[in-house]
Amino acid sequence: MKPQGNPAPAEGGSVKDIEQEGYLSKWNEESAVRTKPYLYACDRVVNDDSASSNWFFPSALPYLFHPLLAGLTTNQVQELLARNLITFLEYTTLLEHRIVNKSVQFIAQDCLPVSIPHGMRMDALRIYTDEGYHAIMSADVAHQVSEIFEINYGTRKFNRIARLEAMAEGFQFATLGWFLVGFVSETAITKQFTKMGQASLVPGVYNMLMDHLSDEWKHSQYFVSIFSYLWPRLTEAQRNFCARQLPAIIHECFRLDGTLLERDFSEMGIDNDIAQIIIEERGRESEHRLRARAGAATTLHALKRCSFFNDPRYAASFFKHGLID
Ligand SMILES: [Fe+2]
Ligand SMILES: [Fe+2]
Repeated sequence: MKPQGNPAPAEGGSVKDIEQEGYLSKWNEESAVRTKPYLYACDRVVNDDSASSNWFFPSALPYLFHPLLAGLTTNQVQELLARNLITFLEYTTLLEHRIVNKSVQFIAQDCLPVSIPHGMRMDALRIYTDEGYHAIMSADVAHQVSEIFEINYGTRKFNRIARLEAMAEGFQFATLGWFLVGFVSETAITKQFTKMGQASLVPGVYNMLMDHLSDEWKHSQYFVSIFSYLWPRLTEAQRNFCARQLPAIIHECFRLDGTLLERDFSEMGIDNDIAQIIIEERGRESEHRLRARAGAATTLHALKRCSFFNDPRYAASFFKHGLID
């Protein structure tokens, strides 16, 4: 028999409300799939107006400002942004299906080692639906932009997804491990979206990302509340498992895949030596650790709230990965 108990309070509702109705009880009135008009058409013409509309956030591509790329034309910069948008959306489509929704299924079907109250399992079903819709809008915009730029994008592989799945194969506690993968992914993704307000984006892209973001803030808080609910109810062995796996999952979620950049540069006729230099610089372990620590700030904050780091063994595990001081 699984242990039962009250969920930890989350923003916007009492413990009892959340247990009975769920954290996303206003899903019918608030979620993108239920309420937002589908305004994600990307007009070919705006490509000529690159001074006022970017295809992706320049701040998400720090290498754009690398001295070796100072000679790029405005059109080349926009194509690199478009290629990164397509990569991001393709990756998002797969992540929603193969990673997040796999994790969410185990909550919805009450397969975790601790029983989850009805309302919180209903939330998991809502998130499953949200993510399916996010995959549709992401795949649609990726396709539109690839047509505009005549980019053949259908054969890219995403090593991170394959590595996360391979990692999950070996989990000692399979469903708990999948929950951790979802928890890290869903608390990390909002961090990427916070760059949104800093750039003027093509309207269809902007609408799509904003609608996605409005759901993701809630998903992030939901996963934090589920972790807070689980943590005090786990056995010692399950906690040790979490402390071992979480830094490894975080590390994996922020590892860059240089092959994608190499391919974009090659297809655009940019010198391969430049690609290699940038990949080497971005791939350094010190850079990777900085990205992981900054990107996982919400995850780490959630762990602190649960007094996770009060156990010196757990703190040491995160310290070893450069995630805490
Ligand atoms: Fe999503
Ligand atoms: Fe999500």
